[in-house]
Amino acid sequence: METLEVSLGERSYPIHIGPGLIADSALLERSVTAEQVLIVTNETVAPLYLARLEAGLKARRTSALVLPDGEQYKTLETFARIVDRLIELRFHRDACIIALGGGVIGDLAGFAAASYQRGIDFVQVPTTLLAQVDSSVGGKTAVNHPHAKNMIGAFHQPVSVLADTDTLATLPGRELAAGIAEIVKYGLIVDPELFAWLEDNIERLIALDAGALAHAVRRSCEIKAAIVAVDEREQGKRALLNLGHTFGHALEAIGGYGSWLHGEAVAIGTMLAANTSHRQGWLSAADCRRIETLLRRAGLPVKAGGVGADDMLEAMTLDKKAGRHGLRLVLLRRIGEAVLTAAPEREVLREVLDPEPGA
Ligand SMILES: NC(=O)c1ccc[n+]([C@@H]2O[C@H](COP(=O)([O-])OP(=O)(O)OC[C@H]3O[C@@H](n4cnc5c(N)ncnc54)[C@H](O)[C@@H]3O)[C@@H](O)[C@H]2O)c1
Repeated sequence: METLEVSLGERSYPIHIGPGLIADSALLERSVTAEQVLIVTNETVAPLYLARLEAGLKARRTSALVLPDGEQYKTLETFARIVDRLIELRFHRDACIIALGGGVIGDLAGFAAASYQRGIDFVQVPTTLLAQVDSSVGGKTAVNHPHAKNMIGAFHQPVSVLADTDTLATLPGRELAAGIAEIVKYGLIVDPELFAWLEDNIERLIALDAGALAHAVRRSCEIKAAIVAVDEREQGKRALLNLGHTFGHALEAIGGYGSWLHGEAVAIGTMLAANTSHRQGWLSAADCRRIETLLRRAGLPVKAGGVGADDMLEAMTLDKKAGRHGLRLVLLRRIGEAVLTAAPEREVLREVLDPEPGA
């Protein structure tokens, strides 16, 4: 097991990465100190891992809430179900929620933990690659609004993250690829060596090679932890983590949160951001091709197809990152260097979004 730290003063917490963590009673005992514990999970993950986690937590009385599976359930209604259960169980302020699942469960359970009695502890037990490299770290919690992604939420850091890499063995290939999209993102924004490592090792990652997985999860968490430590509330550098996300969130909202996986939408968004960067004269055509080739080799989509530029532009202006300064985008100067900047003119975006109108 490897342990990193997210350094946030009194809100600092460890990220443990390794095989077999959800059955490690000693680690669970240290990580979950509350007497009242609610495990929030979903109907796909529960049959796979809930009993193992409960057995590992044997010293504690736990309850479990099994939610329906899917991004379309990342809503205020599902959030209310968690709060209802906490009240039924008469949980106090010193209770703890454990989020066992992917990013949807982590975001939902985290937001419930942020809100219940103005904030209780929560522990992240991410079981998708995307959640292990990204969503379980950093304390962003949220639910979606029908018209805009992650519109209702809070910053609330977990007290611990336990990334059990064994759980990735049951992850469908499409979900694994979605997680790789976020690892590519880290390479693109700050770490050209990670990007080059992915170019050399993508097949090992797809084959769930233990060494490759451990490296990718650890390096991703190191990068995210370092960025969150200097900019917890996204006043500056943390915004770079949104590379591809303004385009991606728009695609997800247009598709009704059912067409694209989050990571797939991010992959298409990353390609759109790369093409926009090239149009601005920043990113070279050769680097654009490297990005497209790597995303394709990971099994990720690089084009939306059938989504109109006007619909995209409309959805992008609803994105949270469109503030009083207008729409801003994370663009690339080169592989490994990103900047947050005012979006180019609508016409430029329209050309990138719809390179062959009417085709
Ligand atoms: N809070 C953040 O900082 C942050 C960052 C990135 C993404 N997100 C959010 O995360 C969500 C996407 O997360 P995700 O990609 O993990 O999706 P997800 O939570 O929907 O999980 C993907 C699918 O895999 C299943 N699954 C989970 N673990 C499994 C396992 N070990 N074996 C088999 N199946 C398993 C899930 O039930 C689901 O069907 C989006 O809502 C996105 O907005 C949040």
